[in-house]
Amino acid sequence: MRGLRQKVAIVTGAARGIGAATAQRLADEGVKVLLTDVLSAEGEAMAQLILDRGGEAAYAYLDVSDEANWERVVRSAVERFGAIHILVNNAGIGTLPDVEQETLDGFNRTIAINQVGVWLGMKYTIPQMRASGGGSIINISSIFGTVGGFGGSIAYHAAKGAVRLMTKNAAVRYAKENIRVNSVHPGFIDTPMISQVKDSSDPAMQQMMSTILGMTPMGRLGKPEEIAAMVAFLASDDAAFCTGAEFYVDGGWTAI
Ligand SMILES: NC(=O)c1ccc[n+]([C@@H]2O[C@H](COP(=O)([O-])OP(=O)(O)OC[C@H]3O[C@@H](n4cnc5c(N)ncnc54)[C@H](O)[C@@H]3O)[C@@H](O)[C@H]2O)c1
Repeated sequence: MRGLRQKVAIVTGAARGIGAATAQRLADEGVKVLLTDVLSAEGEAMAQLILDRGGEAAYAYLDVSDEANWERVVRSAVERFGAIHILVNNAGIGTLPDVEQETLDGFNRTIAINQVGVWLGMKYTIPQMRASGGGSIINISSIFGTVGGFGGSIAYHAAKGAVRLMTKNAAVRYAKENIRVNSVHPGFIDTPMISQVKDSSDPAMQQMMSTILGMTPMGRLGKPEEIAAMVAFLASDDAAFCTGAEFYVDGGWTAI
């Protein structure tokens, strides 16, 4: 992909799953990657894996819902790598409770991580992107940022829907400053996030898994690398005229 070599990226939630695959893909494209997460042992190991493969990477602890964490990590990224050009707001948690089952604490926690975390990431990296002459922000939403799914996961849908619209709002705000902002909407992807459904012996969860596959026109789960490929495209100069747009990587889920 064009224009990625020697760029600097922060990827949140990069210790495993989609974030880890994205960090690896960006590093393969010549990007210097700061992997961040709350799972430090896994995050350190992932950064080491990239270094072992000849890429440039480091790890830093970052709870995306914590403003002081963001200030510290952005400052240290600039000190270490000299700039920030790419932000992948990927960190997130999954939820299952519907409107009546959800608790106020559960709802607030999901919003803090999946929604406020995305805003804080943009808030603290955009000044650095402006100083570098531009940048690309990729916010990981979901098919459930757009459609109602199974009628469960109320807090998750609330946050992912907000990510979709914050993306468009920020894209408009920063379009003239060469800072592009897009959202990526994965369908069901084979990561630890869905293992509570996929690997469960509970018949209700097994039923949900077969419903998920049945509702996916391609009839399979996506791979983290298939999301990483879209993120790499949006980070690159190949996507120079893309901003404020939503990109679905969902095996056809939202086409029905
Ligand atoms: N897997 C799917 O089917 C799917 C579908 C649509 C969207 N997504 C979205 O993709 C993103 C990545 O999900 P995944 O499937 O790789 O999940 P995952 O659970 O495998 O990885 C999520 C990562 O985020 C980290 N994280 C959680 N809370 C954090 C916090 N407060 N601060 C920093 N990091 C934190 C976790 O430690 C973990 O490493 C999420 O935003 C998720 O909502 C996933």
